Amino acid sequence: MTHWRERLPVSRDQFVPPVVWVDDPATGGYVSVSREDDEPAWRKMVDADEAIITQVDDGKTPPGSVGQQISSSCSAPSIVADMLDALDARPGHAVLEIGTGTGWNAALLCERVGETGSVTTVEVDAALTTAARAALHGAGYGPHVVTADGTEGYRPGAPYDRVIATASVRAIPRAWIAQTRPGGAIVAPWGSDYCNGTLLRLDVRHNGSAVGRCGAHIGFMRVRSARRYYMNPSADEQATADTTTTTLTARDMMDLTEYGRAAFVVGLRVPRCYLTMDDLDDDHRRIELHDVESGSWAAVDLVRGEHPWTVRQLGPRRLWDEVSEAHAWWVSTGRLGPDHLTLTVDPDGIQWATLSAGGLTTAWQVAV
Ligand SMILES: C[S@@+](CC[C@H](N)C(=O)[O-])C[C@H]1O[C@@H](n2cnc3c(N)ncnc32)[C@H](O)[C@@H]1O
Repeated sequence: MTHWRERLPVSRDQFVPPVVWVDDPATGGYVSVSREDDEPAWRKMVDADEAIITQVDDGKTPPGSVGQQISSSCSAPSIVADMLDALDARPGHAVLEIGTGTGWNAALLCERVGETGSVTTVEVDAALTTAARAALHGAGYGPHVVTADGTEGYRPGAPYDRVIATASVRAIPRAWIAQTRPGGAIVAPWGSDYCNGTLLRLDVRHNGSAVGRCGAHIGFMRVRSARRYYMNPSADEQATADTTTTTLTARDMMDLTEYGRAAFVVGLRVPRCYLTMDDLDDDHRRIELHDVESGSWAAVDLVRGEHPWTVRQLGPRRLWDEVSEAHAWWVSTGRLGPDHLTLTVDPDGIQWATLSAGGLTTAWQVAV
């Protein structure tokens, strides 16, 4: 595979804003780095194959303060290159991008479709749209930049040959399929609340359905409407939790967390269940499951030398029971990872996941 630098003909230094944000372990939040004050630090970030945080808290936190939530970023160059390759936009194509951010990917799309093609890019945040439009204009590109909720697609420019999302979704919005020309394709990061996520390429068919395979694991910020929230029950509430134990092993826990082999499939089986992990010390990792909507919470304390591990559960949903049941089901299917998973969206927008390998096929409807 060619190095990403050779696959990306536009440098991102023309698009990354002069103030960016970095993780700050001291506060647990994000602090600003200004190009004017520290050009070498800014430049190092721009040249690295890493995502750069370009906005926090929907722009409400000013530089110099501590931000709490990442709300826009310029994605890692190698991921951008992989997504563009998966999209396979060609000269003359009409392309819709959801999540303009800095405008860098829109410039790369303009390069791919050339003068005979067209790029429409939709961003939910008006301040980002204004900055991206200016950066694109300054770099000599003229895509149509729109402030709107991209989960609705952008009907005035439809039909599109290609649709690409640079923010992740729990389900492919029907508008994206409806606005893609039959024979066209959609590329999007697809993730559940539990697991963030895989790179999905869907091919749109003549009857309005779409089918595609999951690619590599990728972590992306969510579209605004799919943001995940966690709950921290008070010590008093935690003291009232039902307490049991789990005999699942350390290996099972690795499969179930982060980008473990079970995590993506389990996340599809247990909707609205946000997983977080905290290393309390070298010998104690806590896994928590949260469903803010129903007020349900679970915690599993993985303490070295103590097994079976203690499980606490609160609220109407027994989230750990749901996850361990999904894990047992996943084991029964032959421990197939997302590389064996196909997504089909039928003409009514219902999503079907299919796991298949060696003659074994299991399909189920994905709830969101
Ligand atoms: C990872 S960033 C995009 C990076 C961008 N493509 C670039 O080249 O810099 C994701 C963007 O999606 C935007 N976003 C989130 N929800 C959205 C929505 N519903 N419609 C349009 N944009 C959305 C965010 O504001 C954020 O700017």
